[in-house]
Amino acid sequence: MSYAIVYSSQTGNTAQLATHIKHILPAKELVYFGSVSPEALHTDILFVGSWTDKGTCSPEIAQFLHQLKNKQVYLLAKAG
Ligand SMILES: Cc1cc2nc3c(=O)[nH]c(=O)nc-3n(C[C@H](O)[C@H](O)[C@H](O)COP(=O)(O)O)c2cc1C
Repeated sequence: MSYAIVYSSQTGNTAQLATHIKHILPAKELVYFGSVSPEALHTDILFVGSWTDKGTCSPEIAQFLHQLKNKQVYLLAKAG
């Protein structure tokens, strides 16, 4: 099944995790990889990653998560 990987990273930790996940999942099923974008909505499976800011995910990831309906979502979080 197709999937997208969307992430927000300030200093590279979440980007590194997202890249690792990209490398272990089938490349031909990947429809989008990168920062928040409407392109990531074209699949039912999403890996969504964020750094932790004030105890929660980044504002752009929070806004993105609010848009999701009937999606299978796997959350990735990096914290200090
Ligand atoms: C402004 C700022 C706020 C942060 N707030 C938290 C926090 O509330 N809780 C936490 O566990 N880590 C916090 N951290 C640590 C980061 O979430 C952590 O270093 C994370 O690995 C960074 O991921 P990134 O490299 O993808 O940006 C904060 C870091 C910064 C720069």
